[in-house]
Amino acid sequence: MKSKLAIAVTLSGWVLLIFFLFYENLEHGHQMFRYIFQPPYKHELILHMSIIILPFISTAIGFFINERKKLFEIVKGSEEKYRDLYENAPDGYHSIGPDGTILEVNNTWLKMLGYERDEFTGKMKLTDLLTDDGLRTFQDTFSDFKKKGFIENVEYYLKRKDGILLPVLINATAIYDEKGDFLKSRSIVRDISARISYRKKLEHSIEEWRATFDSMPYGVMLIDPIFNIIKANEYIARLSGFTVKDVIGHKCYELIHGSDKPIECCPLLKSSEVSGTETYEYYEARFNKYFMGHLTPILDKEGLPQRYIISLIDITEIKDKEERLIQSRDAFLNMLKDLDVSHRELQKLHEGLIYSFINAIDTKSPWTKGHSVRVTNYALAIAKEMGLKDKEIETLRTAAILHDIGKIGTYDVILDKPGKLTAEEFTLVKMHTVKGEEILMPIRQLQNILPTIRAHHERMDGKGYPDGLKGDEIPFLARIICIADSFDSMTSERPYRPTPGKEYAISELKSCIGTQFDPEVAEAFLRVLENLQV
Ligand SMILES: [Fe+2]
Repeated sequence: MKSKLAIAVTLSGWVLLIFFLFYENLEHGHQMFRYIFQPPYKHELILHMSIIILPFISTAIGFFINERKKLFEIVKGSEEKYRDLYENAPDGYHSIGPDGTILEVNNTWLKMLGYERDEFTGKMKLTDLLTDDGLRTFQDTFSDFKKKGFIENVEYYLKRKDGILLPVLINATAIYDEKGDFLKSRSIVRDISARISYRKKLEHSIEEWRATFDSMPYGVMLIDPIFNIIKANEYIARLSGFTVKDVIGHKCYELIHGSDKPIECCPLLKSSEVSGTETYEYYEARFNKYFMGHLTPILDKEGLPQRYIISLIDITEIKDKEERLIQSRDAFLNMLKDLDVSHRELQKLHEGLIYSFINAIDTKSPWTKGHSVRVTNYALAIAKEMGLKDKEIETLRTAAILHDIGKIGTYDVILDKPGKLTAEEFTLVKMHTVKGEEILMPIRQLQNILPTIRAHHERMDGKGYPDGLKGDEIPFLARIICIADSFDSMTSERPYRPTPGKEYAISELKSCIGTQFDPEVAEAFLRVLENLQV
């Protein structure tokens, strides 16, 4: 940028020279240069030479004027820049005099405290902005500051115009006059409200963690690789009889185990092998408690353990419960064994009673001795051939063995009569089906066989007894016993006749299919008889 003054000064020299040459040309024509350099008088020569060098002088002066202006603008720009930086710096700035009067502040400082510049510069003291605590600190430190020449990181609360207290951090240096007397301070004032807020949050967070840490129902310790306790919670302190502060620095095995060396199961002993959480259980005789310990290493960048977190959980109650549970389980198993024995004994008693009934019948009629057992064997063979289920087979077994139990109430003379029975005698014999049901009725466990006992002499054509049931009305197991019973009768000797034989019995069976016997049962029995020695 060229200065107008510089241009004007420069041009003036050159314009004067042009006018001079024009004038000389008008006066002397082609003799102009001779007259200019060889005038009649010496003072004219000086004048002419002065006019000729004047443009060079004016140009030089213009150049210097221009450079001066440029320099001035640079200085001015620089000053504005630094003023702007000063006024709007991220931190506030104030300067106080020997008596604490505020001499100067920057814009940031004003914004921080909400004041206008003319409200207090030179009118207020820094102490007017301080709290009681801050005032004491100021009084304690200001004299030292003036002597020492600086203060570092002093925290104050300054009262803002709206009454809010602003936490600030002040760093200051002192400026002295030529005599070495304190002149003023140069103080940087940093707003640390965000830092204080974070610090409070952090302290609050630490307090919360500490409370959580201490209220844990189990022990937590931070230890170094040589068993020194770095941190521990209230549980550990209580357990060891120390305060939380006092446990720090002790060896963990001293406090927890009361020993002068680590316990045998301590996983830290083999610390080089520990890369993840290790769990161990042990009984602590000092406290008569069982503990479960967890050890977790904190690894550095190289993966080497630098610290260990150990947690100790009291599992005494769990152990006691476990022990009681084992005792209960053993007692229960023993009870089951006893019950099993009792059940087997009862079963034997049950079977024994059934065979006592059979013996009673066999003793009553020697001619039918073994009949019930043989009928049972035939009936079971039919059941297996027909694919009956195990439970049905067991019911059939009991029903078959007891099917003639009602004969206990029939006169011996009728049962063993060598000749043919009269109609009245046969009526008495037929009553054994109903009597059998009556004899067994009081026995709860035999209720399921009663219909079979009652119906084992029913026929498919309805001509059987005692109820004259037909076809499917007859209980299925009774149909099986019926055919087995008839076959055994036909293959056994009687007082009134010799045995008719197997072939005769088979032919009789076949002839009575559909009338006396169930066809499916009869077919199954015939298949059984093909491989059966009678
Ligand atoms: Fe019978």
